[in-house]
Amino acid sequence: MEYNYLVLGSGIAGLTFALHASAHGTVAIITKKQRSESNTNYAQGGIAAAVGQDDSWELHLQDTLIAGAGLCYQPAVETLVKNGPRLVNWLIAMGTDFDRNIEPKETALSLGREGGHGRNRIIHSKDRTGSEIERALLRAIRSHPRIQIWEHFHALDLLMEDGVCHGALALDTATNDVLTIRAGAVMLATGGSGQVYQHTTNPPIATGDGLGMAWRAGAVIANMEFIQFHPTSLYHPEARSFLISEAVRGEGAVLKRLDGHHFMADYDSRADLAPRDIVARAIDFELKRTGDPYVLLDMTHLPAEKTRARFPTIYEHCLRFGIDITSEPIPVVPAAHYVCGGVWTDLDARTTVQNLYACGEVTCTGVHGANRLASNSLLEALVFAERAAIHAAVSLDEPAPLPPGVCKTLPQCAAERNQDEFRSLQAVRESLQKVMWEQVGIARTQDRLKQAMEQLCSLETQAAVPAEPSVEHSELQNLFCAARLITQSALLRKESRGLHYVLDYPEPMEKPPLWTLLKKEP
Ligand code: FAD
Ligand code: SIN
Repeated sequence: MEYNYLVLGSGIAGLTFALHASAHGTVAIITKKQRSESNTNYAQGGIAAAVGQDDSWELHLQDTLIAGAGLCYQPAVETLVKNGPRLVNWLIAMGTDFDRNIEPKETALSLGREGGHGRNRIIHSKDRTGSEIERALLRAIRSHPRIQIWEHFHALDLLMEDGVCHGALALDTATNDVLTIRAGAVMLATGGSGQVYQHTTNPPIATGDGLGMAWRAGAVIANMEFIQFHPTSLYHPEARSFLISEAVRGEGAVLKRLDGHHFMADYDSRADLAPRDIVARAIDFELKRTGDPYVLLDMTHLPAEKTRARFPTIYEHCLRFGIDITSEPIPVVPAAHYVCGGVWTDLDARTTVQNLYACGEVTCTGVHGANRLASNSLLEALVFAERAAIHAAVSLDEPAPLPPGVCKTLPQCAAERNQDEFRSLQAVRESLQKVMWEQVGIARTQDRLKQAMEQLCSLETQAAVPAEPSVEHSELQNLFCAARLITQSALLRKESRGLHYVLDYPEPMEKPPLWTLLKKEP
């Protein structure tokens, strides 16, 4: 198969790139499950953009930089916030139906509030913003003559020739055939790696496949130590981690201990609307101190009618587990949510590999720094996907030059494979997730990080390797790659900053490195 552009992934990043790139050539999108299955599809809170009367891109910039704790790459943030309002209008032109105010003016967008934002600037569609965006973009693509979408195609690796990316190898999971898809430019838009952790808000597709493929192809990977734990995922023995949107706190919900104490006011003047790293750490600290299994998110003081109308997904989901959120508080715990690091890209979404672009959660553009501001990731994907398409249409001759900073490599695993001790891929995967949750979680120590590195190496040798390419094995390989990149990056940053909190170095450095850069040994 041969196209001008090959897109890996059908979330907001891949679909946006495909729509823009189709003006310049033929596009194939391959996606490993059905087309809408993506992190995008589960986004609840919304998309941040400075469209309010009292708002400006400068204020959005300022809030993003504050949340990023000194590590944001300012040119990337400026690119994000200046283009935000225009591209939200593009989404609307594509048919996305965002909530609007009835008063004072019917046409004005309804703007919510989330942690770290000094203004109401979260554009949303109830609490299912992501699925509304997916619906609109997939509809625009469905009838497009130049875009072809291949579902249940699992990308295994990038097709590399002399250091240049010419396409990808993909497993057609319906037939088990491995296909070669060639293209002039490849867009990596495979999303995040939340499945590296035992508890995550991410759906099963988020296995770090893009990271693994880019790493093996020799791309530079940046800032993987910065993993965002969302403070509020539903705690229920029978529920897979389900997100309770920060927008709920934006509407006035408060966090309480089981004894009823509103503890966030003890930690930060912004209380429940402090940036996420602060809230997640405060909950983690309270849980460890009290021994309680969860804290409570209380929105029972809000009008029931409004709660049901504004948060129908959360209301219905909790009700399924016997919790009526209008009359009882929600038990919540933190869960892995978002990877701020990823494949390093420049302002045109170029990676350091020729012909390979990357967009969305798989990347590190520098926008999020040490902590992502809520609802900035849908916007990041939207903004940089457009830039990638513009760039790819005119120039493919050069990869992005290496970012400034010292590039390190991952230490090799010393452990050897023992033919008698193979375990099932699923068992190894669960062990990996447990190691990451227990040793590379919200509060870290150098000792635990070193132990995690050793355990990951030893676990990797225990996985039985199937004779034929398989999705399970490919995902596990990529999960190990993501896990080792996170752990090694965490070992390299000898300070606490934003989402990276390490007890041995509790203070931030005066002159921190902007990037933690890793690259495969040549
Ligand atoms: P995704 O949307 O994850 O898309 C990745 C695509 O790649 C999928 O189609 C997947 O199937 C495909 N893929 C992966 N591996 C392969 C492979 N090997 N071969 C082929 N295809 C592959 N952000 C906000 O800004 N606002 C929010 O309100 C918000 N809420 C969130 C709520 C939840 C529950 C979660 C999990 C995340 C939320 N986020 C939010 C984060 C945001 O949704 C994601 O960062 C963003 O959607 C990522 O978009 P993406 O296109 O990069 O990746
Ligand atoms: C949420 O709705 O709380 C998630 C928002 C985000 O991850 O940006």
